[in-house]
Amino acid sequence: MNEMRVGLLGLGTIGTGVARILIEQQELIARRLGRKIVLVAAADRDLQRERDLDLSGVRLTDDAAGIVKADDIDLVVELIGGYEPARSFVVGALENGKHVVTANKALIAKHGEELFPMAADKGLQIGFEAAVGGGIPCMKALREGLAANAIESVYGILNGTCNFILTKMENEGSDYADVLREAQQLGYAEADPTFDVEGVDTAHKLSILAAMAFGSKIRFDEVHTEGISRIGAADIESAREMGYRIKLLGIAKPHFDGDDEYVEMRVHPTLVPLDSQMAQVSDSYNAVQISGDFVEHTMYFGRGAGERPTASAVVADIMDIASGFPDGIAHLAPPMGFVESSRREVPTLPMADVVCEYYIRLMVRDKPGVIAAVTSILADHRISLEALIQKERHASQSVPIIMLTHETTEGNLQAAISRITGLETVDKDVLILRKESAVA
Ligand code: HSE
Repeated sequence: MNEMRVGLLGLGTIGTGVARILIEQQELIARRLGRKIVLVAAADRDLQRERDLDLSGVRLTDDAAGIVKADDIDLVVELIGGYEPARSFVVGALENGKHVVTANKALIAKHGEELFPMAADKGLQIGFEAAVGGGIPCMKALREGLAANAIESVYGILNGTCNFILTKMENEGSDYADVLREAQQLGYAEADPTFDVEGVDTAHKLSILAAMAFGSKIRFDEVHTEGISRIGAADIESAREMGYRIKLLGIAKPHFDGDDEYVEMRVHPTLVPLDSQMAQVSDSYNAVQISGDFVEHTMYFGRGAGERPTASAVVADIMDIASGFPDGIAHLAPPMGFVESSRREVPTLPMADVVCEYYIRLMVRDKPGVIAAVTSILADHRISLEALIQKERHASQSVPIIMLTHETTEGNLQAAISRITGLETVDKDVLILRKESAVA
């Protein structure tokens, strides 16, 4: 029985979870796999930290580069996160003939197109299930279980931190900053939590899912990205009054225009119907809805962040790779779900051409004719309203007006908004959210 020998880069939250599974579940893993997986070494800058785990059989070091080169390691698990030095270590591991498993969505979103061919040329594998959806095996489902389908849409709550914050703000009326701090303490948030709350983490994940869904190349830099930091308790309440809940969604759809093909990719706070399944996804849970032309809607739900769920996905990848070790693993689907030669450069649909329904929060002077002026501009742009609420006046001089529109293009909506904010009676500070009725 050939053992697979693993070296870990990073013994933080997820790394500790991976070590814990490899040690505590060793027998179960060997029974499932027919071979042992042995944690040989682990590198971290802080080796003194209390981890509540017996690592006595593991070589602990602060020399990550040493693990990448070590002769007694077959597979390197990269859990450092971020772009560098993670990329250099992964390149080093591949150059030294080692398989790689990572939970690093930033790395795959930014450098996946460089790393996959590098691994394939050497007959090595890169596993990254933990990079999207934490413990939910959604990429395995997309790549394997749904392989017979042309994918029609992907909708995802992909960031546990944002979902945790939005849930607590709604249920407990908690303060944004307090909840963010709690998410950090629970190990959900990125090292730089602006990646979470400004939607960058969701964009990393969405760009990977979209490329895997549509057979296109990863174009993270082109994802339209907005976060949750401008959402106030009043918006959550207004959305609820109108029958919606605000979730940070990643949305991807293919578009065909004659012979031209585009991919729509956007991340933004989204109003979803209160009775939808997506609206029930709370706390740090994630959910991914993937629709295919034969299977119709499918939905995957689970913990999207945290030590144990994310480590569960990392170890499943190690086991997949170990299942064929050391003779290659030709039975695994290609990492991005399509053979490399058939993956295409598909342009991203310009945001101005995206069609949405909108939630618009304006602050206006409480004077006669203001609403008439606003609605007349919307009418000029053929934007029809589904609902309009004027909130009570507060101490400030302006009053909030909340409008829900029917479908229009983003370009048209933005043109109308710039005319509206040009009115003397309307503040420049406008909040625009989008609404999706098509989520399950
Ligand atoms: N910061 C991420 C989140 C961790 O909150 O979902 C999992 O990718």
